[in-house]
Amino acid sequence: MVPGERIGLRALEPSEAERLWRWNQDPDVMRWMKDGHPQSLAQVRTRLEGRPPNAYGDVLFGIEVLDDAELIGLVRLRDAEPERGCAELDIYLGEKEYWGRGHATDAVRTVCRYGFGKMRLHKISLTVVTENHSAHHVYRKVGFVEEGRLRQVFRRDGEWYDMFTMGLLEGELRA
Ligand SMILES: CC(C)(COP(=O)(O)OP(=O)(O)OC[C@H]1O[C@@H](n2cnc3c(N)ncnc32)[C@H](O)[C@@H]1OP(=O)(O)O)[C@@H](O)C(=O)NCCC(=O)NCCS
Repeated sequence: MVPGERIGLRALEPSEAERLWRWNQDPDVMRWMKDGHPQSLAQVRTRLEGRPPNAYGDVLFGIEVLDDAELIGLVRLRDAEPERGCAELDIYLGEKEYWGRGHATDAVRTVCRYGFGKMRLHKISLTVVTENHSAHHVYRKVGFVEEGRLRQVFRRDGEWYDMFTMGLLEGELRA
């Protein structure tokens, strides 16, 4: 367990596939996420069971609330290469009743600390749809800055949306 203040980060168990599958069915959770094609519960379970162990290039954590040990979301550092010292961050909280309580802010800070400390990354990057105001707010709050705007690269319900690319350098993480 990698502890934050109110959440901890930990590896996922294959038995948690049903929860992940349920989150992926929720249009509110998936609204600003790239969702791909629908997957059955059996497919999600197979994917989770066959997932290689966490390694430098792909670290996936479950976000667990410290108070009640509930798994509420996922956070991931992917595509890291030691030569470049950079990784991409993704996060989502599937349990909506936990939104707005600071858990995502805590999880982003905790995974960034892990990336800069344990993985010795120099930079963490991400993309976020410009209309995803709460996620954008969380990223800015912990120190990410906009580095560019990708025009009309995300489509939802027939509309095209822009995305910000954002970056956080070692030493820029705000407590
Ligand atoms: C985006 C998400 C991770 C935020 O999680 P969360 O636990 O609600 O985040 P926090 O409670 O830590 O912080 C939310 C912040 O956004 C702010 N916020 C909420 N709605 C907002 C809005 N419309 N405009 C601006 N800020 C907003 C809150 O006030 C809070 O800031 P504060 O702590 O300074 O008051 C969560 O809603 C989620 O998983 N959504 C679905 C998946 C997703 O969009 N992932 C991100 C993809 S880039």
